Amino acid sequence: MSEGDRPPYFTQENRTTVNSTISKRAFLQAVGAAAGVGAVHRGMEALGLGRTGTAAAAPPGLPPGSGAGKSVAILGAGIAGMTAAHELSKAGYRCTVLEAADRAGGRNLTVRAGDRIEEFDNRQRVGFAEGGHLYANLGPARIPYHHRTILGYCKEFGVELEVFTNDNRAALYHHRERFGGRAVTARRAIADIRGYVAELLAKAASAASLDGALTADDRKRVLEMLADYGDLDDERLYRGSARGGYRGARVNAGLKPGAPDDPLDFGELLRSGFWRHAPRTADSLNQNPTLLQPVGGMDAIAGAFERRVGRLIRRGSIVEEIRRTGSGVRVVHRSARTGARAALEADFAVCTIPAPVLKDIAADFAPQTRAAIAASAFGGAVKIAFQTRRRFWEDDLAIYGGISWTDQDIAQIWYPPYGYHRDKGVILGAYIWGEKPGLRFQAMGPEARLKAAIAEGGRVHPGYAAEIEAGVSRAWGNVPFQKGAWPAADEAPEALQRPDGPVHFAGDQTSALSGWQEGAALSAQAAVAAIGRRVGRGARDG
Ligand code: ALA
Repeated sequence: MSEGDRPPYFTQENRTTVNSTISKRAFLQAVGAAAGVGAVHRGMEALGLGRTGTAAAAPPGLPPGSGAGKSVAILGAGIAGMTAAHELSKAGYRCTVLEAADRAGGRNLTVRAGDRIEEFDNRQRVGFAEGGHLYANLGPARIPYHHRTILGYCKEFGVELEVFTNDNRAALYHHRERFGGRAVTARRAIADIRGYVAELLAKAASAASLDGALTADDRKRVLEMLADYGDLDDERLYRGSARGGYRGARVNAGLKPGAPDDPLDFGELLRSGFWRHAPRTADSLNQNPTLLQPVGGMDAIAGAFERRVGRLIRRGSIVEEIRRTGSGVRVVHRSARTGARAALEADFAVCTIPAPVLKDIAADFAPQTRAAIAASAFGGAVKIAFQTRRRFWEDDLAIYGGISWTDQDIAQIWYPPYGYHRDKGVILGAYIWGEKPGLRFQAMGPEARLKAAIAEGGRVHPGYAAEIEAGVSRAWGNVPFQKGAWPAADEAPEALQRPDGPVHFAGDQTSALSGWQEGAALSAQAAVAAIGRRVGRGARDG
């Protein structure tokens, strides 16, 4: 996996440490310029820079009726667009949501038996059996515990949540060229990596060269800590640990204690790159347990929004032009069904159209806005889900939820953290975010994708092909009105974090949490707050 192909866990953590500080500051400056100091304080809270708040959305809190007589055209009925519609209509704004697709939800997409999904050049029918546990989230699939905005809406709407298991020590790490191409358990790799590292550090801590750096007492404590961290023996050597599991199929001791597995070869471990998955994934802020998911599918969130704002959504309305009209906006749109054109006039717009689509829409935007939209490249993640005839990962390997990793293009296999011990299951057989493998899979037809993912998965799970009954794939770069999964850059363009005349931008692409529903909801709240300030100021001025 090249640097550019690194999974989001690594790049996204950087965003929240270094880069996002800059974009948060830029965002707050923009809010301040547009809306005044009070909004900056609310913005800080919304961005998590102030108090953390409770698990409830901290909506812009526009006074009821404050939007009376004002209209807003909302472009896109994904999570951002529906958040904006929900908040603005509560304050009395007249909202119309134009959605190009025939469904609301955007990238929030769960598929079940009989569903039909389309890409530019293919159509797929989901061949899963009926069953509440037989679904696949082909877009967002996990929510970190600190994504307070989206979790706040789940609480407000009564969307039932359960734990999403990201990290499972029984899951597998696989590399085609290491350990004879056989997968090893995360449990074993993690225990051995820690053991070897602790042994090396213990040697260094004992060396005379550290005399000046550590007091005698601290050295003793460090050595104690390392022995505990790596499960070292009395000579502070790592010779394997029961933490990695026992020899044979049982994993644990039984009636007799049994013998722990031999440690894996350190050189092979280093070359495998498994150390990237093991301790790193769960440490990344956005992959940090506890993660959550709605019971029964991620679309429970989209559905809850839709129940509230669905009447405002005009599906199959493809935006073709975004024009200025005096102080307002005129949006020309075409019906996907009849081809008829119509214009929607409004005082404001909230535009959530993904940049790869927006760049081709004729719009009266300022040159900086236009440039930011044109420069915002999206990656094209691919997800492939399989229904299996039995839950072989539970039956054979005691894997209950979690993720296996491989150095192949499919990158990961996700096991469902629900429906345990049922007769069938739906696994994610590929989650591809790297550019090159993403494009390779995107270019294939649906059948070829499934075949390739089955071949790769079979190297992780021998006998895999015989377990699979049906499959479905989604290559987000090939999806009409999306043309990508999330922006490739770590930072949202500043020009999309401030309004261009009457048009406010929202969507995860305008946040430092791109690729997350949190970024979508948060950015929509920021746009709503900014519109509220403008209207409030106008009312006072008038
Ligand atoms: N939010 C995406 C994920 O969880 C990037 O992988």
